[in-house]
Amino acid sequence: MRRFKDQVAIVTGAGSGIGLGIAERLGSEGAKVLITDIDEPTADKAVAALAAQGITALAVSGDTAAEATAQRAVAQVMTAWGRIDILVNNTGIIGATAPLWELPVSELDRVYAVNLRGTYLFCQQAIPHMLARDYGRIVNMASIAGKEGNPNMVPYSATKAAIICLTKSLGKELAETGVRVNCLTPAVVRTPIWEQTTAAQMEMLLARIPMKRSGEIAEVAALAAWLASAECSFSTGAVFDLSGGRATY
Ligand SMILES: NC(=O)c1ccc[n+]([C@@H]2O[C@H](COP(=O)([O-])OP(=O)(O)OC[C@H]3O[C@@H](n4cnc5c(N)ncnc54)[C@H](O)[C@@H]3O)[C@@H](O)[C@H]2O)c1
Repeated sequence: MRRFKDQVAIVTGAGSGIGLGIAERLGSEGAKVLITDIDEPTADKAVAALAAQGITALAVSGDTAAEATAQRAVAQVMTAWGRIDILVNNTGIIGATAPLWELPVSELDRVYAVNLRGTYLFCQQAIPHMLARDYGRIVNMASIAGKEGNPNMVPYSATKAAIICLTKSLGKELAETGVRVNCLTPAVVRTPIWEQTTAAQMEMLLARIPMKRSGEIAEVAALAAWLASAECSFSTGAVFDLSGGRATY
């Protein structure tokens, strides 16, 4: 399948984990991909891994929370390839896990800046280029935590809920254009993100999944790729579940 032949994608926070899996999937179906990551060696390694698979890729290293990173990423894509078809706002951090009254407010500020502010900034930079061609697909990475609220994860859960609502509002703003905006709400997928928390927290979340297993990166990438494709035409401002049966709405 070459659904993304001649198309251009930006995937944020794609040096590892789910973002890299999505970049590989889009690239394997023909997209040119610009990835971003806060860690430069990680970003460079990911580009080399994509290139080894025959995928045309570029990296921009920088903090997703900084406006300059979004500006640089979009400028680089436009200079190199002249268009943006797909934006996957994948970057996300859990932050410290503890009850709210034990977490300094600086922890909320940090998680907010990466998860919500970063998503906002990349949308702001990319959308004018999508509107210029009246085509675009935006896929935002929320989480089941944003629907249900996980204990000891208030900053993460609250910012993921905000990404769900950003998706709903933005989807409506763009509904009469060729730009679609949707989000994903995965439950546990084994990636390096879980190094930010405890084994007990991970086990507690795994036990809530009716399938009694974690999700696979390839499973997230498959749904993200459909949302990033032209086939996703009548869905916008919508929330797509990937939770092994945990989500009840
Ligand atoms: N893994 C899960 O269980 C799970 C479940 C639900 C949702 N998600 C969401 O999926 C997305 C990807 O998660 P993952 O598990 O692949 O994470 P990960 O930690 O494995 O990978 C994230 C990548 O983003 C980079 N990064 C971190 N902070 C950054 C910043 N400020 N700016 C730019 N890059 C930064 C990291 O260097 C890393 O390469 C996140 O939004 C996460 O919240 C993950």
